[in-house]
Amino acid sequence: MANSTPNIVVLISGSGTNLQALIDAHDRGELPANLSAVISNRPNAYGLERAAAAGIPTEVLDHTGFDSRELFDQALQREIDAYAPDLVILAGFMRILTEGFTQHYSGRMLNIHPSLLPKYQGLHTHQRALDAGDDCHGVTVHFVTAELDGGPNVVQAVVPVLPEDTAETLAKRVQVQEHVIYPLAARWFSEGRLRMAQGRSLLDGETLPDSGHIIDSRN
Ligand code: GAR
Repeated sequence: MANSTPNIVVLISGSGTNLQALIDAHDRGELPANLSAVISNRPNAYGLERAAAAGIPTEVLDHTGFDSRELFDQALQREIDAYAPDLVILAGFMRILTEGFTQHYSGRMLNIHPSLLPKYQGLHTHQRALDAGDDCHGVTVHFVTAELDGGPNVVQAVVPVLPEDTAETLAKRVQVQEHVIYPLAARWFSEGRLRMAQGRSLLDGETLPDSGHIIDSRN
């Protein structure tokens, strides 16, 4: 990857606002990579239209047509690898991944999750932060390992929880930050500044803290 423009394949399941943020960053010259393909496990994902509008090749691999998680992941891996990606970006790809799949892309697959990991792995993160009475919440980009919503953190954005918040208003505030930190992490990786080693994230050769690099939008 060192001397060539890296290839990125983006996996989606839905609306694709994070995909759009990556496309916009690329168009602004802030993501030095080829967005080689967008692959969705849902045929009607709106993100496919965003990709097509940006001239990015799209593929659909409908998981409902497969008898097992293993068979789906194997087929997905073949489809991804046809694009020879340096980096695979999970952008709202709502699938539990098999261990073999995560190992195959170890150190070259990123995910975004709407919580301050390791808090609130899984679903309904905004409501859970409200129910817990947290005064801050946020979003994390991390390298993917076999553990669901696990793997070393790369960057976190912290947002305030306000007294009048609902899960919807909180989600919107978090989403603004998602669209900041995912292009940033993708840029770091594409520039060869970000890597995973011995289960840790390194930026410019320095081990990042457990939280990852923090962007605090509360001030
Ligand atoms: C985003 O909020 C992302 O953080 C979340 O799905 C949404 C996708 O939105 N991902 C997860 O919950 C992963 N566990 P998008 O399709 O508009 O980018």
